[in-house]
Amino acid sequence: MEQQDWTRVVDAATRAPSIHNTQPWRFVARPETLELHLDEARSLPVLDPTGRQQVISCGIALEFAVVALAAQGWGAEVELLPAGGALGAVRLTGPAPATDEARSLADAIRRRHTVRTPFARQAVPEGLIERLQAEAEEFGTWLKPITRSEEEVATVFLISRAEEMEQGDPAYLAELESWLRTDPGAEDGVPVGALPEGDPSERASNWLIRDFVAGQREPHAFRAAGDPDAPPPEVERPAVVLMGTDGDDRAAWLSSGRALGRVLLRLTDAGLVASPLTQALDWPATRTRMQARLSLVGHPQMLLRLGYPQEGPDAVVSGRRPVADVLRLEAPGVEGGG
Ligand SMILES: Cc1cc2nc3c(=O)[nH]c(=O)nc-3n(C[C@H](O)[C@H](O)[C@H](O)COP(=O)(O)O)c2cc1C
Repeated sequence: MEQQDWTRVVDAATRAPSIHNTQPWRFVARPETLELHLDEARSLPVLDPTGRQQVISCGIALEFAVVALAAQGWGAEVELLPAGGALGAVRLTGPAPATDEARSLADAIRRRHTVRTPFARQAVPEGLIERLQAEAEEFGTWLKPITRSEEEVATVFLISRAEEMEQGDPAYLAELESWLRTDPGAEDGVPVGALPEGDPSERASNWLIRDFVAGQREPHAFRAAGDPDAPPPEVERPAVVLMGTDGDDRAAWLSSGRALGRVLLRLTDAGLVASPLTQALDWPATRTRMQARLSLVGHPQMLLRLGYPQEGPDAVVSGRRPVADVLRLEAPGVEGGG
């Protein structure tokens, strides 16, 4: 494949969501292969000491590359953890005419953004959730809607417990702040414009979104339930799904990332939006308790809130590093490396 075509594919891959928009990847392209490596220099030692959430992010980028290739008329196969230290390699298998479906999934790559504002009250069709389940299963990943009220209560509790632990941890807050961006042209990190205004613990939702500016607010006692004297607001009720895998190693993290990439594009294509709510999975204590309280067989990897967007201004788009900073093009005949 021509070098400029790899540049287009990597441009699409780097639109993948990543934890705190760290974009922890770098790519090496050869005529028939694209390798994706973890960029250890962009790690989150406090939030993600094992690299689990960053490897999931890389799995999403890997899948976005496959989707972009399919829309460009290329078949591809993915090898996870190939020899040589890459997280994954995408190998071209030959020309394959692009289907309409492949094109619309690839179109969704640019339209997808994390939407943290409350969703419309329109219910998510059950058929769509079943479709996402089938899609995730192709990557050895289960997708479990949190629908039973005792599961919802337990999950909501563990999220607020984790958020409370995080807000009391200066190292966590310092790391979070270092990835927060006020410059709208920033190439990485989470732009403040992409965060809803106000204190997440006071919004009309039973699902607590991550508080990215907790460390900069006037200190207050943590309160997940809001003002007890205020009249009950109309509470947002999004669909929430938990994705997980039987194993809990790098291969499982990459597979759940690939599944998540497909799920997010499918949702975008169907006119829905989503935001991860991963606080309870950040910490071994709350992650293990979630396994027990929800009687999970396997390991939770991603908790996703999804629904239809409300009318309103478009979300602020988070930045990306230029492709030239993350892609090394190697001439034919150069082997290995990375
Ligand atoms: C593994 C993973 C975990 C994430 N966890 C959260 C989270 O807990 N709360 C949140 O608001 N966003 C979360 N995000 C979303 C990222 O902040 C977002 O993808 C990134 O800022 C880039 O923005 P974009 O998705 O709009 O392109 C997560 C993303 C990934 C891939």
